[in-house]
Order: sequence, then C-alpha cells, then structure tokens
Amino acid sequence: MVSFACKACVVFLTVFICNTVADIYLHVPRGSNNRLNEKSATRKNPNRLFDSQNNNRGGYNVGDATESPFGTDEGKQYRMKYFQSGPWKTLRQAKGQSYLTIEWTNQHGCGGNEDSSPQKQNCALVMQYMCQDDVDSPTGITDTLRNGVNTKKQDYTKPNRNNADSDRSNADAKSDRGLHEPWSWYNKCYLRERNKGLFVADQKLESDNGLGYSSAIYTRQNPNGNRYGYECPEERDYFPYWHPTPWKDIAVLAENASMCDHYTRKSFNVQPYGECVEDKGWSSYNNKAACESNGGTWKLLYNYLEKATDKTNKASCERTTTGGLTYKWAVPYDTDDYQPECLVLADAPECAEAPWSRSNHLGNGRDGVPLNYTWVLPHFPSGNAKRCVFRFRYNISTDDYDPYGTDHTQNNEFPQKSPIQQNPYVYVMSKQSPLRLAINTAQYGRIFQDRSHVFKLMPRPSGLTQDRIFNVNVRGKRGNIVQVYPAVEYDFAPNNLEVKKGERCNLLIHFLCLSHRDICPCVPGSNTHNNGNPAGDGQAGSAGEGKAGTDRNNMVELSDRGTNFPTPFEKSKLWQDVSVAWIYHGKTDISAKDLAINLASSGYYRCADDQSCPESEHTDYLVSTKTKMNNLLDNASPSYEGVLLRFQKKGVYNYMCSRNNNFTNRSQKAAIIVK
Ligand SMILES: *[C@@H]1O[C@H](CO)[C@@H](O)[C@H](O)[C@H]1NC(C)=O
Ligand SMILES: *[C@@H]1O[C@H](CO)[C@@H](O)[C@H](O)[C@H]1NC(C)=O
Ligand SMILES: *[C@@H]1O[C@H](CO)[C@@H](O)[C@H](O)[C@H]1NC(C)=O
Ligand SMILES: *[C@@H]1O[C@H](CO)[C@@H](O)[C@H](O)[C@H]1NC(C)=O
Ligand SMILES: *[C@@H]1O[C@H](CO)[C@@H](O)[C@H](O)[C@H]1NC(C)=O
Repeated sequence: MVSFACKACVVFLTVFICNTVADIYLHVPRGSNNRLNEKSATRKNPNRLFDSQNNNRGGYNVGDATESPFGTDEGKQYRMKYFQSGPWKTLRQAKGQSYLTIEWTNQHGCGGNEDSSPQKQNCALVMQYMCQDDVDSPTGITDTLRNGVNTKKQDYTKPNRNNADSDRSNADAKSDRGLHEPWSWYNKCYLRERNKGLFVADQKLESDNGLGYSSAIYTRQNPNGNRYGYECPEERDYFPYWHPTPWKDIAVLAENASMCDHYTRKSFNVQPYGECVEDKGWSSYNNKAACESNGGTWKLLYNYLEKATDKTNKASCERTTTGGLTYKWAVPYDTDDYQPECLVLADAPECAEAPWSRSNHLGNGRDGVPLNYTWVLPHFPSGNAKRCVFRFRYNISTDDYDPYGTDHTQNNEFPQKSPIQQNPYVYVMSKQSPLRLAINTAQYGRIFQDRSHVFKLMPRPSGLTQDRIFNVNVRGKRGNIVQVYPAVEYDFAPNNLEVKKGERCNLLIHFLCLSHRDICPCVPGSNTHNNGNPAGDGQAGSAGEGKAGTDRNNMVELSDRGTNFPTPFEKSKLWQDVSVAWIYHGKTDISAKDLAINLASSGYYRCADDQSCPESEHTDYLVSTKTKMNNLLDNASPSYEGVLLRFQKKGVYNYMCSRNNNFTNRSQKAAIIVK
C-alpha cells in the first residue's frame, strides 16, 4: 500500500470522522427512510424507493386515514394535504404564501463554518420535489406517484442485446408497490453510458450492463449497480445533474454561500439539459459530440412546474403572465414526441448557507432550535390539486482531495493515481509500525437521502388566495426517546410559531394557521408504529399511552406552558379568539365550543349539543349520541383533516396534546405567538 509520506499527517487529522455512518432524517414532513407500514423498528426494504444510506431504524410509517391499519387498500392511507401558495407568491410579496417548515437532523456538521465552530467536512443539503395532477396519470401506472401497499421494490426487466428498445414489461411498475421516479427514468439511466469523466478513486465499476458497456447505474458510491426503486444512481450522486431529471429544485443549503452561484446557475429549473435522440428509439450517448457523430440528435429539454395545456401555440403561451409566473413554449423533459408545449417554469431554487450543526450528532442546531428551512409552497396556476413527493439529500466530502478539481485522470486505472486508497497504512512513527486509517473510497464523498411519503398540494379555497398560511405539523412517532431513535418523539412543529403583525405584509392584520389532518394536528399518524423486532442496533418497544403501536394526536388549550393541565373551555382564550377560515367538513360558521371539541377529539366529534348538528348527523358527530370516544383517542383517527384558524388578536396561545404529554417522560406542547 502507498505511504502518504508527509501528507499523512494532514490526512491523519481528518479521516476518522469521515468514514462513520452519517445520515439524514427528515422529521417534518415525516421522512419514510423507505419505510411503509412495518411494525418492526427496522425498515424491511432499504431498496424500496431510493438509496438513503441511512440506518435501518430511521423513518416514519405512512399515515392511516382511519383507526385501523390501511391493510392492502392504499385509499385508506392518509396523504398529508397543504394548501398551495396563492398567485402572488412569485411577486416576492408575503401575500398569499403558504409556509411549510421543513425539519431534519443530519449526522455530520454543516454550515456556520467560523473560527469558533469550524466544520470537519464539506457539505450541502439539496431539497427537491416532484408533483403531478392528483389523478391517476394518463400514461398509467408506469408513472403514477404512490406509496404502494407492500414493501417490495418495483421490478425492472433488463433489456437484452437484441431488444434493448423493447417496451416496459408488464411485470414492471406494479400498481401495489411504491413508485416515485417513473419506470422510463430508470430505463434511460440503465441504457445511458455513465459519465467516464468522473473521479471514482480506486473503485472498480462494473463495465458491462448486459449491453456491452458501463452505464449510469454504476457510480463510485454504487459500483455494483444496485437498484433502489427507479432512482438513477448517477443522478442521485451528483447535483446539479447534467441531464434532464424529473425533480424540481427547491433550495440548496451550502457549506458556504459562495457556492450558491454554481448551484443556482446549473439548476435544471433554470436551464435546459440535453438528451440524445436516435431513430432506434433509445440511445446510449451521454454527450452532444458522441451523439451527433453517431447520427443522433442532441435535444435540449426543459423542466417545468406544470403544463399549460390550454395554450396551444408559442404566442398565446409566452404572453401569459398568470400568477407572476414565466411561461415558455419548449420541449418538456418527459416528452413523447419532442414537440414543444406550453410550460409554466419553476422558480430558481433558493440558495443560502446551511444552518450550523455538529458532527456525530443527530440533534438541533444553534440555540437548541431544530435544523429547519421554510419552504414557500408553489402556486400551480391550473388550479389543480397535486400529488407530490419531497426529496432531501445531504452531501458530505472532505478536503483530502479537491472535490471539484479531481476527475477521472486520478482514478486508479492510471496506476495508483488516486489521492485516496481503501484503508491505507500510514507511517507517522516508524516504518515498522504503521497505523491503518479507516477510508472507504466508495464513501469518501457520500450522499445520504430521505424522502416524504406522497402528499398533496391543494388549491386554495375561494376567498383565501391572498392570505398567508402557516402550516403546523406534528412530528415524531410512538415510543420513548431510545425506542424511536433515530426518529424523534412527538412534538409540534414549528414549536414556537411567531407571527408579527404586519412584519412581512402590509395588508393583512391576521394570519391563518392551517393544521392539517393530525391535530395536535398536522402529521398523519400511523397505527403500526409498534417498533417491534427486529430492532437492528437499537431498542424495540413502543412506550406511550393508548393502544400499542398507534399514533394519536389532539390539540387542547394550555394556559401556561410550565403546567400540564389543559384549560377548561369556560376559561378558553384560544377558541374564543380565533375564527375558522376553512375546515375539512366545510361548515365554517361553527361555535368556539364545537371547534374546541373537534380539535380535542382529533375530529371524532363535531358538535357539542343538539342544535349545532342537523338531527340526521347526531349519531355520527354529536358528543351525547355518538359511540363514546376512548379517553386516549384509541378509536379516533390518527390523522386529522385540517382547519384554518384565523388569529385576529395579539397574544400567546399555548396548546398541548392530552394523550402524549406525560410529564417527565414526554412533552408535547407548543405556542402560537401573535405579535
Ligand atoms: C466562504 O468562501 C469564501 C470564498 O471562498 C471565503 O472567503 C469565506 O471565508 C468562506 N466563508 C466561510 C464561512 O467559510
Ligand atoms: C456532492 O458533492 C460533490 C463534490 O464533493 C459533487 O461533485 C456532487 O455533485 C454532489 N452531489 C450531490 C447530490 O449533491
Ligand atoms: C429555524 O432556524 C433558524 C436558525 O437557522 C432559527 O432562527 C429559527 O428560529 C428556526 N425556526 C424554527 C421554526 O425552528
Ligand atoms: C408515562 O410514560 C411512561 C414511560 O413511557 C409510562 O411508563 C407511563 O405509563 C406513562 N403514564 C401514563 C399515564 O400513561
Ligand atoms: C416516566 O417514565 C418512568 C420510566 O421510564 C417512570 O418510572 C415514571 O413514573 C414515568 N412518569 C410518569 C409521570 O408516568
């Protein structure tokens, strides 16, 4: 093995941390980490939808819509719903925006690299999403976003030399399995030659995909071409990617804001990328020169927010300005026929320095606040409901080689050129007594990932297009702090929602708080968080209140956050001060008492007395006549449908969840502060 001679001292100081497991876990909205509905502490299938590289214990199950597990019916899963922003979003006014607080933990440090808090690696956090209309896709099950009802990954029938252009086999893209990227995305990745200009260190990448060449399914981090759902390994490992992708960029949080120009300029949101088109129906060429010199045509394809299908020519398309958005007559990335269509373009991603976090620690950032980013949800001018997935990648690299200036000329195929070798020996004492370093060249520079389950972005109710909406969610799952790790215990997020009157918006003196379907609201709860065996490298068990394995949340008022007894309705401030701007069951003119009962029962009851429900609804919704609710909410739904509360007075409104709050063991309390 190579001696690093003097360089060894430098290497020695930095490598230990670089090769441990590092992870990213998404807590709001809840990240799946490839889980679906497992009753075990560990996920069943790390290959289900995407390559997370995370610990098997992380992640949250998909929400259930009723008090029973969804079983084999995806319709009984609960999809989180958030209202889209109104049409004013892109005018950079606060008017009409919908804010979704994203919260996560990442195991290595990132951001805030100052003398007093130097970071030990380079990093970037990349947030993206994909959406489609919330109907089964016209192209069928090959690209309809879904969670599926079992934990198997989709199949992929490999093309062979004689029929590489063959269509999808019926065995692929099954309707009962989860699907994010469409089948065609992975198929193109499988057929496209990999980028041979990349640095792969001393990794030996598979040289034959079965068609006689090495394709984009092989990378330094995935040298054997393992498959995870229909994710393309090369695209997973590199950002910004150099081919069209199905993802829209939301934000990049970089180690240093000086990187931002690079990320925003190269984002597929703002510039087209090329793809080789050949008469035979598929192509292996991954660049313009090779494509054209072999008779192909290099087509530039565009990303888009959605298609404006009612605009059928360039002039009518490009003079549209609805919603302050840009419309472009261009060929979309998912085209069938390479004809231009009217595309509503996505905004450029936001870019900033990442919030500071500490190495080897899945915890909060500075001042004990959770690592967070506020996503201003998009506005879709079609007015259609959307079905979406959120994707979060965490990229760490070291200074042991220049991550941007090192390429294939330093791969080991050029004898021993790689600046890093697998577990090398270094000589710091004497030639007789080397020390071995822990270096895995497949993970030196490594990406981690988490994704949400499928959720919905709903058009705004009429009359509410200009209001700002702040989404309050529940994070966490059933179990004590050790049992849930590396997921988290229950809490509300954002925990202190502070809204300053007139701060970002001159016109509005009120704001709306949308709590959607899980009260203590907004995270969908599951009935299968039993956290049983196998528990991997952690503890099994689901300590908590109520029926084992079930999540339940409600929202009751609390006068003082230092106490644990809810405020009786007669003394309520919260319910008296708010009005209902929208509620899932449509009847907004409800009394404060009905609202309090609805939220305290997680939607189980709607009416306090005979007068507030029509008689026909008494058995379904009235406290005195409906089957009695379990006092730990066991027979209520784990997922609450949502309400928009309008706050019109200044004040501090505290609330808690009566079931999960258990002083000394678990606190589930939060505040909305209107200034
Ligand atoms: C960010 O990068 C710039 C330019 O390379 C450098 O001057 C600056 O010190 C860096 N900031 C931090 C916080 O590392
Ligand atoms: C991760 O960072 C490396 C540089 O260290 C870069 O080449 C790569 O494209 C990045 N990948 C992602 C997914 O951010
Ligand atoms: C988000 O993080 C910032 C620091 O980066 C902090 O100031 C803010 O309070 C946090 N927001 C929430 C909702 O936790
Ligand atoms: C509070 O939590 C502890 C630990 O999980 C549990 O043992 C105890 O039973 C809980 N209290 C109630 C009233 O459920
Ligand atoms: C909290 O949990 C511990 C065991 O983990 C238990 O001894 C204690 O009684 C619990 N507290 C309450 C209030 O239930």
